Amino acid sequence: MASRGKWSSQLGFILAAAGSAIGIGNIWRFPYMTGKYGGAVFLFVYLAAVVLLGLPVLIAEIAIGRATGKNPVGAFAELRPKSQWKLVGYMGVLAGMMILSYYSLISGWTLGYFFKTLAGSLKGATTSATPLIFDTFVRNFWLQAFLLAAFIFITGYIVSKGIAGGIEKACKVLMPVLVVIMLILLGRALTLPGAGKGLEFYLRPDFSKLSPRMIIDAMGQAFFSLSLGMGAMITYGSYLKKDESIPAGAAWVAALDTVTAVMAGFIIFPALAAFGMNPAGGHPLVFHILPVIFDQMPLGSIFGMLFFLLLGVAALASTVSLLEVVVAYCIDELKWSRGRSVLAAGSLSFLIGIPSVLSFGGVKFFQKLPLLNISFFEMMDFVWSTLALSVGALFICIFAGYVWKSAAALKEIGRGAEKFRHGWLWTISVKYLCPALILLTLFTLAIR
Ligand code: TRP
Repeated sequence: MASRGKWSSQLGFILAAAGSAIGIGNIWRFPYMTGKYGGAVFLFVYLAAVVLLGLPVLIAEIAIGRATGKNPVGAFAELRPKSQWKLVGYMGVLAGMMILSYYSLISGWTLGYFFKTLAGSLKGATTSATPLIFDTFVRNFWLQAFLLAAFIFITGYIVSKGIAGGIEKACKVLMPVLVVIMLILLGRALTLPGAGKGLEFYLRPDFSKLSPRMIIDAMGQAFFSLSLGMGAMITYGSYLKKDESIPAGAAWVAALDTVTAVMAGFIIFPALAAFGMNPAGGHPLVFHILPVIFDQMPLGSIFGMLFFLLLGVAALASTVSLLEVVVAYCIDELKWSRGRSVLAAGSLSFLIGIPSVLSFGGVKFFQKLPLLNISFFEMMDFVWSTLALSVGALFICIFAGYVWKSAAALKEIGRGAEKFRHGWLWTISVKYLCPALILLTLFTLAIR
């Protein structure tokens, strides 16, 4: 265990875990999902999912991690030796690798847009020009493959330097700066003429738009945004000291993450309305509208550059946590060195990412998979970011509630906390509420 470290403080943990949670999930995935599902309804279901499902699972994961001090596979194996529970850990490691592959691709787009802004090629971009610019960009296979490789490479470099050194330091400085820039953007978006319509779309729910598919996507988005369901928070919890409060840490992480996502919506939807763009534009949504907003502000290209750069950093803190899960597993269970683990996991993720690159142009097969009628990228995103995380979260609840047992879990959760007064609420959640809600959602999707 020589290459394992510890977070230097509670704040270090909160910032690193928030760094994992806050990423393009908040600024790219949340707005496009909200737009796709008709606005406010999705927002409300999502917020409910964060509180009812996200928070309890987050606490459970951190507790499992801290109790064992291990990666997901090792953690399940230690708490229930010779059982099949380590399979949940394996699934998490696999999910980490899979998500890393396409998450890095989208993260690479932020780098691409940083350079585009730097080169001035987004100057004067209109609402009719930005979709074309985006299309040309994602169709360029070699550029995309390069950005994907570059992003995984930087992630691997940070992970290879070990836990507290790299991630913690970067997050401490850069996350607050990102929030400041978002506030400035918020000011611009809300004062655009016609922004009110967007606010209405974002805040006034039309409950007739509720659908099973939307509910599962909102639930999946809650898990995805909080980095849950695959052991990332187990791994981060394993680096948390015993005398620090799990409930307080979890509440902070959930709050910071949710505020950032909601704030992104307050930027994107008013701006979309002001420029008459369709909020259901799918995954290119924020790349279509952001350049237009920047073009409408004084010093727009400077803000634009800073924004895309910092979004890249936020994404980096997330990819680092994805890769760290896989690497912690290789170090603890396979007894590989950190360097070798990074090299192996990073290369594999890159290869798995290639079909996703091809989903955006070039190869028909990957653009529209036979039978499914969605692209390879969309399939990966649904299968791993939504389904696998929901199933993973379900198992984590069952494990914490019935197998490890809530009393044992609560003992770990209470350690370092002043007093965890909501223990009974947490117990009800992981034992009954969360499993029931997740199962019900998966079931309705299956019979639909
Ligand atoms: N939560 C990150 C985001 O919203 C993505 C992420 C990082 C993640 N690590 C994860 C998602 C682990 C699921 C599991 O951008």
